[in-house]
Amino acid sequence: MKIVVVNGTEKHGVTYHLKEEFLKGFPGATVTEYYLPKDCPNFCMGCVSCVLRGEKQCKDVEYIQKIDASFKEADLLVFTSPAYVAHTTGAMKTLLDHFAYRWIPHRPMKEMFRKHAVIITQSLGAGEKSAAKDIADSLSWWGVTDIKKISFKLMSEINWDKLPQKRKSKMLSALSCLAAKLRKRATKPAKAGLVAKLKFYVVRMMQKSFGKKDPEYTDFMYWKQNGWIDKKRPWKD
Ligand SMILES: Cc1cc2nc3c(=O)[nH]c(=O)nc-3n(C[C@H](O)[C@H](O)[C@H](O)COP(=O)(O)O)c2cc1C
Repeated sequence: MKIVVVNGTEKHGVTYHLKEEFLKGFPGATVTEYYLPKDCPNFCMGCVSCVLRGEKQCKDVEYIQKIDASFKEADLLVFTSPAYVAHTTGAMKTLLDHFAYRWIPHRPMKEMFRKHAVIITQSLGAGEKSAAKDIADSLSWWGVTDIKKISFKLMSEINWDKLPQKRKSKMLSALSCLAAKLRKRATKPAKAGLVAKLKFYVVRMMQKSFGKKDPEYTDFMYWKQNGWIDKKRPWKD
């Protein structure tokens, strides 16, 4: 099994330890990890070149295409983040911004419709769920249906070494349970859900009308080349 992890922080703190415990549930898996901001260090500047002229035009192409290629290969995508001011980290948001071109309204990766994903977040007391939602919003617009969110409140302490043992054990066992559930499931492609399919069909109508006005439009050409304007579907390929 191939797993790709996008760590929303470089710190080897609470989020890191939670992720490590989750990964212990996948012995023998090939794990590729990205740490943010190191592996996607620059902001999206809003040039929209990726959308309008193609992803190779992004000023950060070398970072983004490396991660994109890993996503394509992976059976399971794992995203982790502490809550920063009640949302995901700025570093994670920066990565998600760079992947706007992969949203269904633009040029989704067909493999995303069959992927499994896990989002691990935690906070001291508030914001862990909205941090997970920030990431889930993008994943679902990339076409992913099977998104598992697991979020924790630390409640007492943000230093891993000082966290009460009882609190640690509870979090670690929840993560091992989730890993055990996914161990088998993630070896087979996930089922594409109704919401992803609906989004696809609405955008397909839009792309058809864009294509009539401008057959050279980058997104339309991508949809056409994939056969999605015709009979092919990303979840069936
Ligand atoms: C800049 C910053 C903002 C934070 N904002 C919140 C917050 O809004 N709510 C909260 O409960 N915890 C907040 N925290 C605590 C983190 O969510 C997290 O529990 C803590 O950083 C420990 O995780 P780590 O060791 O993985 O960094 C914040 C921490 C930082 C550094």
